[in-house]
Amino acid sequence: QHYDLVVRNARIATAERSFDADIGIRDGVIVALEQGLAAGEREIDAAGRWVLPGGVDSHCHVEQLSGMGLICADDFHSATVSAAFGGNTTIIPFAAQHRQDDIPEVLDDYARRAREKAVIDYAFHLIVTRVDEQALKHDIPQAIRDGITSIKVFMTYARMKLDDYSILELMSVADREGALMMVHAENDDVIRWLADRLTGLGHQAPKYHAVAHAGLAENEAAHRAICLSRLLDTPLVIVHVSERETVECVRRAQVQGARIIAESCPQYLFLTAEDIDRPGVEGAKYCCSPPPRDEASQQAVWSGLEDGTLTLYSSDHAPYRWDESGKLPKGEKTGFREMANGLPGLEVRMPLLFSEGVRRGRISINQFVELTATRHARTYGLYPRKGTIAVGSDADLAIWDADREVTISVDKLHDAVDYTPYEGMKIVGWPETVINRGRIVIDKGELLVERGSGEFLPCATPEPVIEARQSRPADTLIRRLVEAR
Ligand code: URP
Ligand code: ZN
Ligand code: ZN
Ligand code: ZN
Repeated sequence: QHYDLVVRNARIATAERSFDADIGIRDGVIVALEQGLAAGEREIDAAGRWVLPGGVDSHCHVEQLSGMGLICADDFHSATVSAAFGGNTTIIPFAAQHRQDDIPEVLDDYARRAREKAVIDYAFHLIVTRVDEQALKHDIPQAIRDGITSIKVFMTYARMKLDDYSILELMSVADREGALMMVHAENDDVIRWLADRLTGLGHQAPKYHAVAHAGLAENEAAHRAICLSRLLDTPLVIVHVSERETVECVRRAQVQGARIIAESCPQYLFLTAEDIDRPGVEGAKYCCSPPPRDEASQQAVWSGLEDGTLTLYSSDHAPYRWDESGKLPKGEKTGFREMANGLPGLEVRMPLLFSEGVRRGRISINQFVELTATRHARTYGLYPRKGTIAVGSDADLAIWDADREVTISVDKLHDAVDYTPYEGMKIVGWPETVINRGRIVIDKGELLVERGSGEFLPCATPEPVIEARQSRPADTLIRRLVEAR
């Protein structure tokens, strides 16, 4: 038995169990998983370390035009380098259609840019903003056949948002063709009405962003999206759940049998509205949508992650620099409505949860793996190639030093953003060696792979879509309506 690489004396955690083994790797794939393996061409001694599946971050914005028309600070190189330093081996960013764009060109464009620059593996979700016959009958089915099997829609942002009719159209096509729907759920009219009132009263400070993006705007839209999903009995991912009532709404829907999958992000665990309320324009550094909420909502998000209501923990990395376009509101007249929405988080997503979740005993190491890797791969059709440590899976590993003390600061991070919302936070635990398809991507603080060495991952049919197909009655009126096009 020949191995290109053996990771020896590993203390391994998967989503299901923890065990000790050596990991034998050949041609980028795990081919043996037992103690006492023969020598490999290269060896890494992982004694005293946790060896976890490489993280899969299924929500990040890279080289993308935002809902407000701003381009992200990170390109596919800086984003994937930063992700790798934070223990990730796969990211799933968005290929974003804007209304004037045609879907095939959008997909080609993102594919080309990622191919040239990415250092770890990547798949794509497709953001759809124009729902017409060409998209529904041709472009989306073709994208799904090409391995883009998740479709995200927005209920807010003037440039992106779809009405409920269009969302139902997309949901029914996704259902029929085998894709998973994702939704940014906030009520656009509520936000706009509140923002108009606030600016009318002369309120411009960053903190009013959090007032305009009221919890009820999220709750109403999430509830409406849940109803659309229930109507078609089709699975739906609600991304970045931030507040208590939405967590409760999701939990209730799941108990009733709705096919709702929900995600949350570090900003809703580790920041609050008080951060946006920092003096002057400092608060703009914490501006994202939905915004960080109060402590009760933080607790609700923790509970949701602990009890399985929220099964995905992603960064929603949406990087904008502080020193130039984007983050700073430009001048008196504009104010909070002009600030770029979004926070950087690719690199700190996992270390934050490891420190505050695993080390503090809120979640087990196996839940950590589930929340940061396995469930993402399952949800978006990449499992078991990605998201676990098993014979036959890609050799995607992160070797963690569970005791390393780190004070988060912008100069330690590798993204293209000039600040971090978590500046000064003291955490414990960091991934020190990161391996993607058997290639050592990061070791001892060094990046060891070339630009463009990441691979595109075509996604299979997402597990929630397969489960829905297997478990629901085939010939209800709704099913006939979905099929009849
Ligand atoms: O504020 C955020 N989350 N910006 C990124 C775009 C989005 O809403 O997903
Ligand atoms: Zn969003
Ligand atoms: Zn509800
Ligand atoms: Zn996002």
